[in-house]
This record gives sequence, C-alpha cells and structure tokens, in this order.
Amino acid sequence: MKRVAIIAGDGIGVDVTREAKKVLDLVVRARGLGIEQVDMDYGAERFLRDGVTLPPRELDAIRKDFDAVLLGALGHPRVPDMRHARDILFGLRFGLDLYINLRPVQCLDDRLVPLRDRTARDVDFVVFRENTEGLYADVGGIFKKGTPDEIAVNEDVNTRKGVERILRAAFEHARATGRKKVTMSDKANALRFAHDLWQRAFREVAADFPGILAQHLYSDALTMQMVKDPGQFEVIVTCNMFGDIVTDLGAMLQGGLGMAASGNIHPGRVSMFEPVHGSAPKYAGKDVANPLAAILTTGMMLGYLGFRAEESLIETAVREAVRRKKCTKDVGGNLGCRATAEFVCATLTPLLGGAAKSSAKRSKRR
Ligand SMILES: NC(=O)c1ccc[n+]([C@@H]2O[C@H](COP(=O)([O-])OP(=O)(O)OC[C@H]3O[C@@H](n4cnc5c(N)ncnc54)[C@H](O)[C@@H]3O)[C@@H](O)[C@H]2O)c1
Repeated sequence: MKRVAIIAGDGIGVDVTREAKKVLDLVVRARGLGIEQVDMDYGAERFLRDGVTLPPRELDAIRKDFDAVLLGALGHPRVPDMRHARDILFGLRFGLDLYINLRPVQCLDDRLVPLRDRTARDVDFVVFRENTEGLYADVGGIFKKGTPDEIAVNEDVNTRKGVERILRAAFEHARATGRKKVTMSDKANALRFAHDLWQRAFREVAADFPGILAQHLYSDALTMQMVKDPGQFEVIVTCNMFGDIVTDLGAMLQGGLGMAASGNIHPGRVSMFEPVHGSAPKYAGKDVANPLAAILTTGMMLGYLGFRAEESLIETAVREAVRRKKCTKDVGGNLGCRATAEFVCATLTPLLGGAAKSSAKRSKRR
C-alpha cells in the first residue's frame, strides 16, 4: 500500500487539487491501485486560524509513513510575508532533501506553441533544477535594516555534493529515457567561484556518461536559445534560481502556467509533486483555474510510485482535452475548472478499461 499526503494549500491550489483528486480517485478505483490518500489541512487559512504552518512532527510523519505528497500551491494576500508558504514548501523541499526539481517542458498541442513556425514537437525537454541550495538556501541577513546604510546579503550556497548529485540525476535521466544530450547552464563568467564548481563537477560527471553529449550554455544564452530553437534541448540542468526562472519561460512554451507540472524528488524516498504555478489569488474559488497542470502532476506522482501506465493514460486524456478545446480559457477553451476535469475523467474512464472497482480505500482526513 502506498500512502499519499494531499496538501491543497491556498487560492487556486485548492481548486485544482480538488479536481486532480477526482482524477486520482478515478484511477485508483478503476485500476484497483493500492494507494491511500490522506488530506492534510495546511495553508494560509490554517495558519491564520491556529498559527500552525507545518509542524515538525508532521514533517517527520511524512518522512517516515508516506511515499508521496501532492501539493496545490501556497501564497495568500493575508499572509504578506509568506511565512506559512516558506515553512510548508521549503520545509518539504529542504526537510525531505528533495534535491531534484524535475520540470518537464512538453507541449501537448501545436495550438499552444507561442513561437512562429514551431510545432509541439519542438517543445519537449526536461529541466533538472537544483532544489535544496543555491540562492534559496536562506543564508544571509540584513545589516542596519531600515537605515540609509542598510546592507542585505543572500549567500549563494553550492556544495560539491549538492551540485554533483543534481548533475548526475540529469545524466541518469537522459540515459534512462534514451535522450542524447544534457545542457548545463550557469553563469560561470560572472559567478567565478560558485559556478566554477558547477563547471568542474559537470566535466567530471559527464565523463561517466560517454554516450551523452554534454553541452554548456550561460543562463542568458539559454533563455535566448529556448525561444529561438527549443527543439535543440533534451535535458537541461541548472541551479535553483535559474531553474525557477527558466521553467516559467518553459511553461509559456508549453501553453502557460496552467499546463506545467513538476516533481520535487529524492530518488527512493518520499517525494513531493506540485504544479509549477502559484496560488493566483485573483482566480481563487471562481472555477476558472486550469486544472490540467495539477492533473499532469498527479500523473507524474503516479509514475514515480510505479504506475507508469496510468501516468501515460492521464497524459493522453489531458492531450485530448486540449486538442478538443475542452479546457479553460487560458488554453483556448471555454470550460471551467470543474468541467475540464470532468472531461478528463470521462475521457480517461474507457482508457482505464472496465468498470471502477470498489476495493480502493477511501480518503481519510486528518
Ligand atoms: N509553488 C508555489 O506554491 C508557488 C509558486 C509560485 C508562486 N506562488 C505564490 O502564489 C501567489 C501568486 O503568485 P503569482 O501571481 O506570481 O504566480 P501564479 O502562478 O499564482 O499566477 C501568475 C498568473 O499565471 C496565470 N495562472 C497561473 N496558474 C494558472 C492556472 N492554473 N490557470 C490559469 N491561469 C493560471 C494567471 O494569469 C496568474 O495571474 C504568490 O503568493 C506567490 O508567492 C506559489
């Protein structure tokens, strides 16, 4: 039995997770998968009500008793300093040592490609973003805050171990999926120390994968090339902040943030899956958010848990929703969040084969 914790979070995170859960429930029932879902009530509402973000004992329980976490999104105007979001999101990413942020940049339909003379086939690569250190390591401080002499420092933390393991993960993924090229992107020309380490580690790790072409691009050149000729990329590996930025650009190449899925992974351990988008507060509760990124993310989670066939069927159903414009406005349809997920479920049901079985465990709340 696999155990999945579900944290819907804030804003449209709640809307899209509710719909993604319907897809998950359907797949679990129809295929009789041994997956138990546990809803966890963490997010801005809980923080404002009880002052609770993510208690250390819960993080421990997730580490010990769960196989995956499905997260919606975090961020609420009533918590402007984002304290709860930092505790929950970074608590999970750092606390569970989820060093791989795997972000597929795959466009599912020609109609969604924003570039002239390009098709969906030109947008099909994955980004491996380092996820536990770099400029997001929260090392630094403010000196003489609020005075004219103020100094603010964020340290860029790059460890040999941290850099090497994300590079190795990118090459291993390329080898496992038959991809032939890994592009490492840094800013070694300006960041002479931190990214010199990336350069040296990249050369060393690449030597262990002789069948895979190791390419280097500075991050400014990478963004330019992603727009000019995205078809040249297969696997991109980069640091935490550049990965954050280039995957938003990647999301636009695949049809927008409503289409971009991601996994926060430590191979062999409990890992966390979330759409790339945030909580988009202005759309919260209005039945307009695109649930497809969250649904694709649920597919990724199933794949990680070993249910690869089901992941692929979910992708097929999502592709069909986009192709037939049975989707939300941001991707050219005129359905709401709920109706889009209903279409995905209706398309998925015959693909899953046969009537739903009733043996699956029901959701528990805690
Ligand atoms: N991982 C996370 O939880 C995460 C990631 C990014 C931002 N945030 C937080 O979310 C809040 C809002 O941030 P933001 O506005 O910069 O980013 P956002 O991703 O929430 O939204 C940016 C814009 O993208 C579009 N969009 C995003 N998701 C969509 C969807 N599913 N369907 C349709 N359109 C969608 C909307 O036009 C939206 O205004 C902030 O509090 C931010 O800190 C959280």
